[in-house]
This record gives sequence, structure tokens and C-alpha cells, in this order.
Amino acid sequence: MVNDVKKDEKIHNYVRDAYSKIAVSEKSSCCGTNTSCCGIEDPEKLAAGLGYTEAELASLPEGTNMGLSCGNPTAIASLKSGEVVLDLGSGGGFDVFIAAEKVGSSGKSIGVDMTHEMLMKARNSINQFTNRTGLTNVEFRLGEIEHLPIADNSIDAVISNCVINLSPDKPQVWKEVFRVLKPGGRAAVSDLALLKALPENVAESVSALVGCIAGAVLIDETEKMIKDAGFTEFKFDKKSGYIDKMTEWNDPLYCAIIKLLPKNEKLSDYITSLNISVIKTTEEGNDEKTQELIAIGASVTAHCQPCFTYHLNKAKELGLSEEKIKNAVAVGESLQRGADSFMSKHVRTALGNSIRSSSCCLAGESDESKKSCCQ
Ligand SMILES: C[S@@+](CC[C@H](N)C(=O)[O-])C[C@H]1O[C@@H](n2cnc3c(N)ncnc32)[C@H](O)[C@@H]1O
Repeated sequence: MVNDVKKDEKIHNYVRDAYSKIAVSEKSSCCGTNTSCCGIEDPEKLAAGLGYTEAELASLPEGTNMGLSCGNPTAIASLKSGEVVLDLGSGGGFDVFIAAEKVGSSGKSIGVDMTHEMLMKARNSINQFTNRTGLTNVEFRLGEIEHLPIADNSIDAVISNCVINLSPDKPQVWKEVFRVLKPGGRAAVSDLALLKALPENVAESVSALVGCIAGAVLIDETEKMIKDAGFTEFKFDKKSGYIDKMTEWNDPLYCAIIKLLPKNEKLSDYITSLNISVIKTTEEGNDEKTQELIAIGASVTAHCQPCFTYHLNKAKELGLSEEKIKNAVAVGESLQRGADSFMSKHVRTALGNSIRSSSCCLAGESDESKKSCCQ
């Protein structure tokens, strides 16, 4: 345990040192510690490649786009006016400012970063942002994403861009995301993920850690962390083209790592950019899966065959297990039996017990040769 804490501190220190140098240097990119290697010469080109629009980039304060991103979380978060959004590892404030425009003056955009120099850079840009947009809805807080300085159930949307891979305790980060989200809230995270284990020399390289590669984990591992944190609804979307683009643009860090790879292997054979969307389903309200199970039970009780077929197909599309579907049918059947026996009791109370228990006519056995269908 003590060793784990020390190891976590050591990783935080490497990452903090590297990003504090990037924050105060003229140039950017994740290779940080060695300024001569830093090379995303054109962060705008990188951002455009990731889908940021010209209009979004135009109102950004100078220097906030540092070319440190690996996706476009504000695009997948579908932010709405009035929402409270939180950016994990906000750096110079790139996505925080973009999100602030989307949530508008009735909303709020908060960034959290553990690197003091990054925080200063971001805070120093607030005035310029306010002058350009008239908005005063941005705030930056110093803190670690493993222990967020944010109240429980207070955030509509968590975003993060190329940060969670840097954390030595990713399960704890996902637990924090779950804690701070309001019920029904969502997270949109862009990060790097492993497609297969990295060669040992890359996995142990400090620059590969700071460059968001050595700390990346397999998508299955992320799925487990997300589920363990309490999320039941999540989606992954691989964007492998980004890694090839960085390689094409001769990002020096990536070039250095490529030299460490076995012959004939590309960096994109090992790593991909990944969009992760999760929803904190509401406790009282019913999520989509629960609604389908209720509808299946109700269709059985109501003898509605088209309804049953429709909801059965929907339940299968949502990946509900056969066992859960059968349980919903059983509940519907037992409700139906309950209703039947209540009705018979009611009818017998009204008409007396001499009434026959079933009618063969209703069962479709009418026969013209017989005077009465029920003989
Ligand atoms: C690759 S940069 C991304 C910055 C920003 N999201 C962007 O796209 O421009 C990573 C940032 O995350 C911060 N960071 C890394 N690990 C962190 C942690 N455990 N807690 C808080 N911030 C962290 C770093 O200080 C740095 O500013």
C-alpha cells in the first residue's frame, strides 16, 4: 500500500514536472521535458484535424490551444445552454473555454488541473476570454483528478482530453467522475488506449508516459473500471486515424517512440485515440433497458402481441439478457393471472357461483350440427 502511494506520487511528480515546463515554454506538445524535441508546430492544424471548427478556435484566448489534445470531447458531450461542465486535466483551458461558450451565461465551465503553472496560464486567459465573449462563466481549480475539488452530484457533463491515461490510479478517477455527476449526467472523454501491450522499452519510457502513451490501457480494462465505478451505460468509439496523422506530421515524440518499436510495426498497431461516452443513470427514473423490460411485462399482461414483438426486439437490440427478458415475461404473466382471478371472483360475487367455469364457444368450438355450441 505504502509502495503504491509512493509509486503514484512518483508518477504525479514526473507528469507535473513535464507539464509545468510545457506551460511556461513557448512551444507545446506532450514531449515536454526536452524542449528541443517539442514539435507540434501548428496546434491549430492538429485541432482542425480533431474536428474543432474555425469558429470555436477563433474566440479562444491566445496560447490556450497548446496542441496537447487527442480528441474533441466538447463535440461528443452535446453540451446545452445552462449546464455545468467539468474538464479533467484542463491544461491551458482549451476545452474549458470552448465548453463555456456552449453552456452560455446561465451555465458554468470548470477546469481542474494539478499543475500550478498550467492553472496560472489558464487563469491569466480568463480576462481575454471575457473581453472577447462577454462571458464570466469560467473557473479553474487546482486539484488532482483522483480527488476532485468538486461537490457530489453537481455536474451535468464531465469532459477530458488526453489526461486519464496519465493517472496512476485510473479506477479512482472513474469513481470520482461517478461521484460528481448529477443523476442522469454524462461524461465524454477523449483519450489514448492500447490495442495490444507495448514493448517493454516503450512501456517503461518516461517520455512515453508524459506523451500519453505508456500510461494508456486496453479498452477492456477501461470498460471494467467504468463498470466498477457504477456506470451501466457506456460506449467506445475508436479513432485510430489520429495516431497516423501525428506520425505523418513528424511529431518528434512519436518519431522517437517509433524507433523503439519492432521492425515493420506502426505506432497505430499499438495505440488508438478513443472516445468514451458514459451516462450516470438515474436512481429513481427508469433507464432505457428497464423501460423495455416493463413494456415487455405490460405487453404480456395486456395480451398485445405486436407490442410484445416490438419491445422484445428493442430489448435484444439493447443487449438485455434472455434471463432478464424471461423474468419480465413471468412478471407480466403473474399480473395477468392475478387480474383473471380477481375478475372471476368479482363476476361470481355479482352472478352467483352457478356460473360455468369456461365457455367452449369463446374457445372457438362452435358446431352447427349441435344445437348448442357447448355440448
Ligand atoms: C496532455 S495535457 C492535456 C491538456 C488539455 N486537456 C488539452 O487538451 O489541452 C494533460 C494535462 O493534464 C494534467 N494532469 C495530468 N495528470 C493529472 C492528474 N492526475 N490530476 C490533475 N491533472 C492532471 C496535466 O497537468 C496537463 O495539464
